[in-house]
Amino acid sequence: MSMKPLVSIIMGSANDWDVMQQSARALQDFGVAYDARVISAHRSPDLLFDYIKEMSAQGVQCFIAGAGGAAHLAGVIAGKTTLPVLGVPIPSKYLKGMDSLLSIVQMPKGIPVATFAIGEAGAANAGLFAVSMLALHDKKLAQKLADYRTKQAEQIAATTLPALH
Ligand code: RP5
Repeated sequence: MSMKPLVSIIMGSANDWDVMQQSARALQDFGVAYDARVISAHRSPDLLFDYIKEMSAQGVQCFIAGAGGAAHLAGVIAGKTTLPVLGVPIPSKYLKGMDSLLSIVQMPKGIPVATFAIGEAGAANAGLFAVSMLALHDKKLAQKLADYRTKQAEQIAATTLPALH
């Protein structure tokens, strides 16, 4: 996106993009400018610190961090900025993302990370949550969010069950 980003999405590996594009999609659907990058907390820590500084200077309002395994990306970002950090646990091969979830959710007291569900739902909700935060100071965005909720309610209300088989 060419506008100044309001949200930064960071993921530990390009392999996380399948899941993390759900965050990007939610932001795009609401017309929120974002920047998305692959930066690893353990493979490229210096780049991570430089990028957090750069994004903060550009005025991003929050970071969404997706990582899998011993997932410390969100916690490290939260240690470097007082901006809100939204953590998305990426499903992993052997522990199915339980490792990622526990690594992100169990932040020691003092440095919070808001943790979302494992996988696509978590990534989409992190994007929607970022929209909610931005909507606090943006009436148009708040209206879009309300419309989006109304649409979901209407879809549920219009749902009929198939006949017994
Ligand atoms: C983490 O390690 C990444 O977030 C990824 O989910 C996991 C595995 O990385 P790759 O081996 O797929 O690059 O840093």
